[in-house]
Amino acid sequence: MTERSLGNCIACHALPGQTGVLSSFGPSLQGVGARYTAAQLQQWVVDARQIHAQTLMPPFGTAQGLNRVANTQALLTPEQITQVLATLAQWR
Ligand code: HEC
Repeated sequence: MTERSLGNCIACHALPGQTGVLSSFGPSLQGVGARYTAAQLQQWVVDARQIHAQTLMPPFGTAQGLNRVANTQALLTPEQITQVLATLAQWR
């Protein structure tokens, strides 16, 4: 979630426990585990376009419908997404 070459959530979101410069491009992820169910969190991370068609959050679990991307693989593997979701669920 803090790794630039992977999720890079930190580029757009403030993360709990993070110090220094916080991004405010997207909402803070503080308390996100209490705001959403596990299924909703999965939807956000796998493909936020299913929630907001015009979202600026990139889809991490699919490369479908993307234009001009060099890589046709999803940004994160299913295992990595499972790890991200476990972390989000803890942030209450
Ligand atoms: C390019 C910027 C960007 C990146 C990178 C990004 N997001 Fe987001 N995210 C957003 C924006 C913007 C929103 C606000 C919703 C919208 O605009 O549709 C959002 C919304 C969310 C929400 C819903 C939050 C709420 O309170 O409603 C969750 C959960 C979330 N992102 C998780 C993540 C995770 C986990 C990662 C890393 C794997 C990530 N995001 C990476 C831009 C980003």
